[in-house]
Order: sequence, then structure tokens, then C-alpha cells
Amino acid sequence: MKKIVLASKNLDKVKEMRLVLKSLPIEILSLADFENFPDAVEDGATFEENALIKANFFREKTGLATLADDSGLEVDALGGKPGVHSARFAGYHADDKTNNQKLLDELKKIGVEESAAAYRCALAFVDTDGTKFLTEGKICGKIKIVARGTGGFGYDPYFYLDDGRTMAQLSVDEKNLISHRGAALKEMILKLRGKFS
Ligand code: IMP
Repeated sequence: MKKIVLASKNLDKVKEMRLVLKSLPIEILSLADFENFPDAVEDGATFEENALIKANFFREKTGLATLADDSGLEVDALGGKPGVHSARFAGYHADDKTNNQKLLDELKKIGVEESAAAYRCALAFVDTDGTKFLTEGKICGKIKIVARGTGGFGYDPYFYLDDGRTMAQLSVDEKNLISHRGAALKEMILKLRGKFS
């Protein structure tokens, strides 16, 4: 069976992607199945560039077909920040807690309590035969300074949907149905199904 490596060290993302990809006739591995590789240098200017950088890097390291994701939050009131810097918004050793605090601090600085925002995701698949597929997904919503919910990860407790719930109040299945990553994965599955079934 064809093996594909999910090239993310973020276990929450791997969990979300596995659920959607399980409908394909492929064996899904993650970076946890390998030695501890260094991080790829994500110096692209866009989500697409960074997804491709990661997919190429880990395809080379693992010798297997690789699917990489790059995603992040764009907040209108902050001019699109944190964008491609979402994972390290609060600095090199940032985690979800410090990134969320930085988000609140930045909004406070400009006196904003809520702003239109979007999550964006780019997925890049690179096979050993050189095949490349790129897909994208986006979901619009609002960032508010009040946290709700304990599910999801990252900025989810502050990301409000049109129905008034936050992303952190959805189950993984519900999130995949509407999320930026779910949309990019659905498009990617069509391409992978064309190649592998
Ligand atoms: P990446 O691993 O470089 O793609 O960084 C993505 C970062 O964007 C994560 O660490 C989160 O801070 C943020 N992010 C991306 N997708 C989501 C999501 O679905 N929910 C919450 N935060 C997300």
C-alpha cells in the first residue's frame, strides 16, 4: 500500500488530517514514526511557499511521498497579522498560550475588541516521482477578546463563527467539515484519489 507521511510536528493537525484522509487506500505515517528530524526552514512569504518547503524537505528526509500543511490566522485589524508567522507570533519558543496572549495584547494596543479574521491553509503533496499537488482552503470569521471552548488548538478559543460558537466549541469532525484545513484536504483528496485508486 502507498505510504504518505504527514509532515507536521503538530499532533492536533495530524489528528485532524488523519480523520479526513482515512477514506483513501494509503498508509498514513507521521513524523513521529521517524527519527527526530530538524525543522524545515519556513522562510517563504506565503502559506503556499512554506507548505512546499516543508513537503520537499521531509520528502527528502523520509524518502517517502509527503503531505505538508502551512496555515495561520489573518486578523483584519492587525493588517493580516500574524499570517505566516502564526506559529511563532510570540517569539521563537511561543506556544498556544503565549501566542493568544500576544494576539490579545496587539488588539488591546489599538483598542479593538473584535475584528474580522480568517484562517488560511495551504497543503502541498510531493511524491517520490516528482508529482506535486497544491491546494488551499479558507474560513472567514471574527476574532473576539473573550475565549470560549476547550477543543481545537491555537487561536480556536478566540475564533468565532457566524453561528456564535468558537472553533474551540466544535468536535474534530465538525471542525473538519467547515475549516480551512478541511477545505484544502477535500480538494487534495480528489487529486490523491485520482493518482492512487
Ligand atoms: P504552521 O505549523 O507553521 O503551519 O503554523 C500554524 C499556526 O497557525 C498554528 O501553530 C496555530 O497557531 C495557527 N493555526 C493554524 N491552523 C489553526 C487552526 O485550525 N486553529 C487554530 N490555530 C491554527
